[in-house]
Amino acid sequence: MTTGEDTSIEVGVGPWTGEWPAGDHWDPELLEHGDRRNVVDRYRYWSREAVVADLDTRRHGFHVAIENWQHDFNIGTVVRNANAFLAAEVHIVGRRRWNRRGAMVTDRYQHVRHHPAIEDFVAWAAAEDLPVIGIDNLPGSRPMETTTLPRRCVLLFGQEGPGLSDAAREACAELFSIAQYGSTRSINAGVASGIAMHAWIRAHAGPPPE
Ligand SMILES: C[S@@+](CC[C@H](N)C(=O)[O-])C[C@H]1O[C@@H](n2cnc3c(N)ncnc32)[C@H](O)[C@@H]1O
Repeated sequence: MTTGEDTSIEVGVGPWTGEWPAGDHWDPELLEHGDRRNVVDRYRYWSREAVVADLDTRRHGFHVAIENWQHDFNIGTVVRNANAFLAAEVHIVGRRRWNRRGAMVTDRYQHVRHHPAIEDFVAWAAAEDLPVIGIDNLPGSRPMETTTLPRRCVLLFGQEGPGLSDAAREACAELFSIAQYGSTRSINAGVASGIAMHAWIRAHAGPPPE
């Protein structure tokens, strides 16, 4: 099998038994050798292209962006969350390379776009008429718990250490924070992305498919 996924733990299904089903979405390799990918059951034996095409028919109205000036290890988690909550697209702002380990191969099913500089990202968002919503606990941020995220938006996250850069903050139509109660200044961007995406889901999404 050439899916590139971690097959050390036997998950999924073995080779298809009986006559192969008809249809373009089936992957002959997976039918023959089994499907050990980390995908929900309804996509078993589907080709990657078919899965992406199906996801594309029902992606949500929010995009996710994260600054990447120091190879932030959280980006993989952001991509995995974006896949789980079905973001329209993920945007990496800054360095092109990012650590894919935390994505657990979900980037293969997600549209990931690179913008070399904040200016490029802002120009793209303006062209799409999408407000940039900064997620960070900065002075002036409004509590996410008592507001509703816009239906169409880009949620922009900062990186470990500095958080949102000055240029990124200036690009934001609004800033939202996640309430914290302990001693740490912040949670990591991967966790923050999951909380923010789920806030969007609670406000705007229907139930997931069966
Ligand atoms: C580790 S934080 C660093 C910055 C943070 N402003 C600080 O003062 O330490 C990295 C990123 O995670 C997200 N984040 C972490 N904690 C957050 C919170 N309580 N509310 C909103 N976003 C948060 C933001 O996107 C932030 O840029």
